[in-house]
Amino acid sequence: MKHDIIEKNIGLMIVLILVAISFGTLTEIVPLFFLDETTKPIKGLKPLKAVELEGRDIYIREGCHVCHTQMIRPFRAETERYGHYSVAGEHVYEHPFLWGSKRTGPDLARVGERYSDDWHNAHLFNPRDVVPESNMPAFPWLFENIVDGSITGKKMAALRVVGVPYTDEDIAGAEQAVAGKTEAQALVAYLQQLGTLLKNKR
Ligand code: HEC
Repeated sequence: MKHDIIEKNIGLMIVLILVAISFGTLTEIVPLFFLDETTKPIKGLKPLKAVELEGRDIYIREGCHVCHTQMIRPFRAETERYGHYSVAGEHVYEHPFLWGSKRTGPDLARVGERYSDDWHNAHLFNPRDVVPESNMPAFPWLFENIVDGSITGKKMAALRVVGVPYTDEDIAGAEQAVAGKTEAQALVAYLQQLGTLLKNKR
C-alpha cells in the first residue's frame, strides 16, 4: 500500500497535510479578492477628510483599537445594540483596518452621531465625568496638543497609491484643513463619521 509510506513517515505526512490545508485555505480566500461585495466601496463612501484622517492616526497612536472593536458581527445581540452589522465595502479605504479583536469597551463601528461633540470632549477629557463607572483612561493632553499638518498631504498621497481616491486638491489643501485644530477636535471628527453611512439600516 502506497499510503503506508505516508503513514510511516511523519515528516512527509506533515508536508502533505500542509499542502492540503493551504489548498483549502486558498480556495476560500482567493475568490474574496475578486468579489465586488468585498472589494467595492459601498454607495456614498468617501475617503476621510484631512482632519478625520489625522484623528484616525491619533486613535491608533493612543491605542483606542486595543480596547474597542470596529466590527459589528451579524448576530441579533450585536445588531440590536450597535446597529447594522459591518460590511466589507465600508472598509475598502482603510489602511490598515481597525476592526480590533478585544472589547474592553463597546464596539465603535457605528458610534458616529450617537453622541454630541460636547459629550465626546467631556468623555475623552475624563470618562468618569459622564460615565461614573467607566474604566476607560482619560486623554487630557489631546486638548492641548495641536495637530501637526505638515505631512497630512503626504499621508493622503501615500493612501492614494493603495487606491484611496484622494484628489490633488485634497492633498494640496490638507495642511490648511487641519491648521490649528487640537488633537481632540481631530479625534472627535473621526469618531463622528464612524459607520454613519449604514447607521439607520437594520
Ligand atoms: C483601557 C481600555 C480603553 C481604552 C484604551 C479606550 N477606551 Fe473607550 N471605552 C472603554 C470602556 C470600558 C468604555 C465604556 C465606559 C464608558 O463609556 O466610558 C469606553 C467607552 C468609549 C466610548 C463610548 C461608546 C458608547 O457607545 O457608549 C467612546 C466613544 C470611546 N470609548 C472612545 C475611545 C477612544 C477614542 C479611545 C482612544 C483615545 C478610547 N476609547 C480608549 C475602554 C477603553
